[in-house]
Amino acid sequence: MSEGLQITVITREGETNTVMRGTGHDTLMQMLFENDQGVEAACGGCASCATCHVYISQEWVDRIPPREQVEDLLLTYSEHFDDVRSRLSCQIQLTDAMNGLTLEIAPEE
Ligand code: FES
Repeated sequence: MSEGLQITVITREGETNTVMRGTGHDTLMQMLFENDQGVEAACGGCASCATCHVYISQEWVDRIPPREQVEDLLLTYSEHFDDVRSRLSCQIQLTDAMNGLTLEIAPEE
């Protein structure tokens, strides 16, 4: 596991933060949750709450694995769904290739 992975997060308040991957962070949601970026993650990462909704920056959308069916289904129920950029951060497994990723925390449901 890479400890050096770092991403840029734009919060709901419009702040830009640099967030580091810590020990035990396997998914993007864990990284955001543990670093207090405003992701509630109410279901704990089992793709049933959508409180980990983020918008991946346009230039990164094609560089991470696409949404699977369960993720797609839940997100399309969100009133803040963006067909291109919306993701459930709990469904994104972190890899070293994601260093430098930029995302925005979606509005609360
Ligand atoms: S944490 Fe609930 S859907 Fe991601």
